[in-house]
Amino acid sequence: MKIVKNRMRPRTAVIPVAGLGTRFLPATKAMPKEMLTVVDKPLVQYALEEAQAAGIERIVFVTGRGKEMLADHFDYTPELEGALRARNREEPLQQIRALVPTPGCLFFTRQNEPLGLGHAVWCARHLVGDRPFAVILPDDLVWSEPGTPPVMQQMCEQFEQLQNPMVAIMTVSQQETSKYGILDPAEVESDGSRLVRAKGLVEKPSPQHAPSRMAIIGRYILTPDIFELLGQKRAGAGGEVQLTDAMAHLIPRQPLYGFRFQGTRFDCGDKVGFQMANLALALEQQEMRERLLPFINEQLSRWTPDHPI
Ligand code: UTP
Repeated sequence: MKIVKNRMRPRTAVIPVAGLGTRFLPATKAMPKEMLTVVDKPLVQYALEEAQAAGIERIVFVTGRGKEMLADHFDYTPELEGALRARNREEPLQQIRALVPTPGCLFFTRQNEPLGLGHAVWCARHLVGDRPFAVILPDDLVWSEPGTPPVMQQMCEQFEQLQNPMVAIMTVSQQETSKYGILDPAEVESDGSRLVRAKGLVEKPSPQHAPSRMAIIGRYILTPDIFELLGQKRAGAGGEVQLTDAMAHLIPRQPLYGFRFQGTRFDCGDKVGFQMANLALALEQQEMRERLLPFINEQLSRWTPDHPI
């Protein structure tokens, strides 16, 4: 008789939002970085919608001091709703009400000190429990073409087949490897395969020491085994508890895969990446495109070789 393995999908997504956002000061002095708005939605909303699109119903936010606004964004706003209702503004009213997830699906825990991403994920351990879970970093915004599933959905579909941890990867230039966790591939990549098995991971290697140009971006599917390692709170690159280091330690015990996702990733924790995301996503909307393109052309004509950057 054929035994059918019980294939699991992540039912919980951890969204860490306790970082200090120092690359985006002064904007992030009093406002959470994850509330920065790309076109008309805060980054954290993109993250939550991506989890929901992947069929993940339990969302765990790891927050810190001064981040209360994030929870408010997903709650009802009676005064605003009353005002919109009185003015018959049905569309925005529906929009803001649709933002509130089913009661009991959002969970909040605190990372009392921003000791690093690995530590933030560890803070969610009791809420995650004993099943595979997703991690979505809101400052990594991934845009997928209409008709292409959002990146976490792509990953959950792969995970269902694979049942092993995976990280989303993209190719970066040799110079950029020092900004990312880099995957050390176990095998030569086969053409067209989206999965690359890892034999190691290196956090922020210098270009000379990078084992590849496959950079990890802020989407992970992990298994609860990671918590034991994260609980050791070993400081890695930058003195922070790195998620990549704990994943690397697990490799001898459990296969780990890089997943080449379909989509464009924007580093919205960086001022330039953030502007790129705004421009690219605004240009996707016809109404905005019609007004923006003449403006962009005008700006381009200012930056001709006579006006070098
Ligand atoms: P970053 O690595 O971008 O760090 O975090 P950061 O502190 O927010 O920003 P910079 O580098 O100082 O500008 C990636 C994600 O992990 C969360 C952040 O909130 C962000 O969503 N994070 C990071 C935590 O929750 N806790 C931490 O200790 C570090």
